[in-house]
Amino acid sequence: MGLYGEQVLPRIINVACGLKGAQPLRRRVCEGLEGDVVELGFGSGLNVPFYPDTVKRVAAVEPADVGWKLAEKRLRATSVPVERSGLDGQSLPFADNSYDTALSTWTLCTIPDVATALSEVRRVLKPGGTLHFVEHGLAPDARVRRWQHRFEPMQKKVFGGCHLTRPIVDLLTAAGFTITDLDEFYEEGAPKIMGADSLGTAIAP
Ligand SMILES: C[S@@+](CC[C@H](N)C(=O)[O-])C[C@H]1O[C@@H](n2cnc3c(N)ncnc32)[C@H](O)[C@@H]1O
Repeated sequence: MGLYGEQVLPRIINVACGLKGAQPLRRRVCEGLEGDVVELGFGSGLNVPFYPDTVKRVAAVEPADVGWKLAEKRLRATSVPVERSGLDGQSLPFADNSYDTALSTWTLCTIPDVATALSEVRRVLKPGGTLHFVEHGLAPDARVRRWQHRFEPMQKKVFGGCHLTRPIVDLLTAAGFTITDLDEFYEEGAPKIMGADSLGTAIAP
């Protein structure tokens, strides 16, 4: 990945994703998480302060060592046991039907083979288990979409493979999830091309 991807980018993500404006969204998306949780793209642990008391433990999946290091302070401040349990959402080292809930925040944009990652989440969730997500993706407006397509090649280069045009709801549905809760909106304070968010929950069959 090189020095930029390994050392610099996780620090940029820690600052950009750590902006205060995202906190109410993190609080909302973490509501209802329970039991054994798998978090995809744990990053620097920015969701840790929002895990509810109903969470028993978290298996964190994150390739970036620096992200994990940046999470140390948040990990010390929580009573929820969090273990770095995997490096790649495309190949989860967990048994079938082993997690109660899953969490993914602004991660499905970046995982190279997102369909495989979602089928992995589905596999490791117990039947009826829920994936809680807030993700940016393809905008509802044609004008914004045109700009997303123009900027996407640059975005991918600068932000470690981050796509702007992934149709989040379609991807979840294609992976076999049933969406039970969905809010779609432009994130306040973010450029529309990067802030067309889908927040909700999806149930594994
Ligand atoms: C935009 S960041 C979001 C981080 C975190 N979820 C948050 O909300 O702050 C995307 C994250 O996905 C991680 N990522 C990239 N490829 C991945 C993969 N194959 N499996 C799991 N996570 C991955 C990145 O390292 C990065 O931490």
